Amino acid sequence: MRRNKQLGWSDVTPKSQWMNRRHLMVGTAAALIASPGLLRAEAAPSIYSTDEEPNTFEDLSTYNNFYEFGTGKEDPAYYASALTTDPWSIVIDGLVDKPGTYDLADVIKDQPIEERIYRFRCVEAWSAVVPWQGFELSGLLNRVGVQPGAKYVYFETLVRPEEMPGQQSTFIEWPYREGLRLDEAMNPLTILATGLYGEDMPNQNGAPIRLVVPWKYGFKSIKSIVRISLVAEQPQTTWNMLQPSEYGFYSNVNPTVDHPRWSQASERRIGSGLFGGRIDTLMFNGYEEQVASLYAGQDLAKDF
Ligand code: MTE
Repeated sequence: MRRNKQLGWSDVTPKSQWMNRRHLMVGTAAALIASPGLLRAEAAPSIYSTDEEPNTFEDLSTYNNFYEFGTGKEDPAYYASALTTDPWSIVIDGLVDKPGTYDLADVIKDQPIEERIYRFRCVEAWSAVVPWQGFELSGLLNRVGVQPGAKYVYFETLVRPEEMPGQQSTFIEWPYREGLRLDEAMNPLTILATGLYGEDMPNQNGAPIRLVVPWKYGFKSIKSIVRISLVAEQPQTTWNMLQPSEYGFYSNVNPTVDHPRWSQASERRIGSGLFGGRIDTLMFNGYEEQVASLYAGQDLAKDF
């Protein structure tokens, strides 16, 4: 299957104007193709998008965490070009009505891909604003049919040491794994992203498809996904397996619960330069209104 470049703002709008997304509509690639005249006039930005200025494509594609390609921030940009992402398939299994090995084209079929400009907060206390293209995970889960016993969603990244040199190291037990509670996975903010800035997802950002959960620390946003399993028990997740006292299952962005080795009260926006200063970290990364109710009654210092 050949994936076409995804139409985005950069295709249809001069960069200066495109950077000011208040002027821009958001729509599916299909809608853009079908009716380019609609572009600036009618559509509103996604209600889920922040109106903060996105980081540049350069910032977002050269400062990455993707341990399959090394532990340095620039390693993924350097090594990930070796990754082949076509063909790509995803095993969807566990407590679903239609388990199977789905080709990527089939996974994204009929899903309304839209641009979502999200804040992104890494547990290392840096942050970014990212114009993703993606679709709601709930759309896919509904399509494969979640069975009543399912309580969590478990994800795995590709294991292919020939193309992922970081997998020669064994400090992480590969595959990289992540998990969400089912209600978190079904929240409309939770997306599977297939692109960035209107381009197919750069390999270093998790091509061809990755999770984005904007109210959680960045490590929950697992890249280059090859398995999605609906399960009854809370699954094992990579960072929790490595260091359970530092990385809990939930990993919600929370300025009042510090990492044992550093504060989570503030963050540095990447690309802001030497004089950019620090900004306050917001509860649930600024998505409190949409997600706080998911955790009603939970002690978030305990369920960190
Ligand atoms: N997914 C995989 N498979 N391997 C990784 O090492 N790193 C995580 C997450 N997803 C990681 C991963 C971490 S720690 C962060 S902060 C984000 O990816 C970084 O995403 P970005 O490079 O697009 O900013």
